[in-house]
Amino acid sequence: DCAKADYDLNRPIDTARGLRQGLTSYGDAHFSLFLRKVFIKAAGYSDDALSRPVIGIINTHSGFNPCHSQVPQLIEAAKRGVMLSGGLPIDFPTISLHESFSSPTSMYLRNLMSMDTEEMIKAQPLDACIMIGGCDKTVPAQLMGGISSNKPVLSLVVGPMMPGSNKGVRIGACTDCRNNWAAYRAGTIDIEEISAVNEELAPTGGTCGVMGTASTMACIVAGMGMMPLRGASAPAVSSARLRVAEETGKNAVTAALAKETCRPQTMLTKESFLNAITVLQAIGGSTNAIVHLMAIINRHPDVAGKITLDTFDEIGRKTPLLVDLKPSGDNYMNDFHNAGGMVALLNTLRPLLYLEAKTITGKTLGEELGTFKSFPYSATIIRPLDDPIYPRSALAVLHGNLAPNGAIIKASASKDRKLLSHRGPAVVFENTADLAQRIDDVDLDVTKDSVLVLQGVGPIGNPGMPEAGVIPIPRKLAAQGVQDMLRISDGRMSGTAGGTIVLHVSPESAITDSVFGIVENGDIIEFDLERRSIELMVPDKVISQRMAAKVASPRQQSVKKARKIARGYRGLYERCVNQADHGCDFDFLTTSGSLES
Ligand code: FES
Ligand code: MG
Repeated sequence: DCAKADYDLNRPIDTARGLRQGLTSYGDAHFSLFLRKVFIKAAGYSDDALSRPVIGIINTHSGFNPCHSQVPQLIEAAKRGVMLSGGLPIDFPTISLHESFSSPTSMYLRNLMSMDTEEMIKAQPLDACIMIGGCDKTVPAQLMGGISSNKPVLSLVVGPMMPGSNKGVRIGACTDCRNNWAAYRAGTIDIEEISAVNEELAPTGGTCGVMGTASTMACIVAGMGMMPLRGASAPAVSSARLRVAEETGKNAVTAALAKETCRPQTMLTKESFLNAITVLQAIGGSTNAIVHLMAIINRHPDVAGKITLDTFDEIGRKTPLLVDLKPSGDNYMNDFHNAGGMVALLNTLRPLLYLEAKTITGKTLGEELGTFKSFPYSATIIRPLDDPIYPRSALAVLHGNLAPNGAIIKASASKDRKLLSHRGPAVVFENTADLAQRIDDVDLDVTKDSVLVLQGVGPIGNPGMPEAGVIPIPRKLAAQGVQDMLRISDGRMSGTAGGTIVLHVSPESAITDSVFGIVENGDIIEFDLERRSIELMVPDKVISQRMAAKVASPRQQSVKKARKIARGYRGLYERCVNQADHGCDFDFLTTSGSLES
């Protein structure tokens, strides 16, 4: 029988599968396997169980991650799916990141989670791995690590939370967190109401219930073929979500048996990512997803370098925004699910997709779509191609002397479309502390035509590149009814936020050759969406003078020195993180080892 065969010294061990994989670290291979079986048997497994394909399940449950509160039930359902298909499921923990409890930012820790994920998938004898994630940075971290591990990986997201209610109006995290807080700041709602609203904004476990980063990543990953199509939107607290988990368990065993074709570096092709970008544009997804997708793409040896920021813009020009969800539209993720979710959306997008791209089930995306004969459909939530919410380019990529390597704008979330072509004087804030101190100052020299500039919030300048890009409207202007202004930063913004906001300026201000770093109060900035341009209207000579002065400044010198000797993860981060247009990954984790010198 198989148990004794493992100890037969005359039989070579098949190191490609299950518990027999890898490790020969205790001397001879037979003894290594013998020892591993000794220890795993302490968990009560039989030789029969141990002869099955081993399916790892990543457990990202944490008391500090309420978005992931349903993970234990998902593990149970996924295990059921694995066992019904003859596999052995074994769960294990990795780092878990929640947006609000990951100081300084979850983005700062994303790469750490990706390293944890990659190394644990590689270290343990598993044939395929289900990665349970959901909250914003967890899904990209898992994909980055999973692709680098190159074992078959499947995404299982926790699903969106349900909306709550205030005075009979639905509300939900976190677009309404921002709207309500802005209304409170402007004095239109009082302290009683804002505290009542606080109780209702996140009424269940699950990820933010709008098209924020979590939902965006879920839809993208479904479009890439890495999860069941219904898996992107089924609510966290629904029975449908548990069935998705069971189905994922079943798919994991199929993927483990197929192994070679289901390795992510084989299964995912350039076309898979182009489909992902088409989905991103059609859902008017989070700007964060651009950073994450670049990081994910740059982990794939055959695709890295073939898709750049400009690819996002090119695809945007032919892709209409179809999904009417906050922050670009009006509805919530459970509405999207009830309207047919990704099945309905991908069906609508058929002419724009590469339907021959493979999925984790072994079928093509077109074949997967074909298995849904009929599905619920609501043309108000998921619009037809000829009646979109926004005609094209929900997300656009800008270039100009202010951002030679690119900047991003979510044009569809602009609240004042006149600002999409705008020229005005800069009001500059050096960093978030400066912003906090002066933005509401009654003496601040600012009008509604000013351009609010926030420096120092790029990946290196403020490790973790905080979501500070939604610079608040100065209180005195907000009180006059100003709701939107042109705002520019080298930071990010939450996927749940909106406004006319230029983000991810690259190179960031903290880098010595950054034009964005030398903008001064009163400088004229010109932005034109149509031309995709963002320009600082200052003569080149003045720009180079200011840059030379900055490089030579004692402050710049001491920052540079401190960065060289910073200890621990922070030091690693500051020395190795690449710029937003490359995905803010660590240069040594990308396929080329270093995309920037
Ligand atoms: Fe977790 Fe929004 S805070 S998804
Ligand atoms: Mg977010």
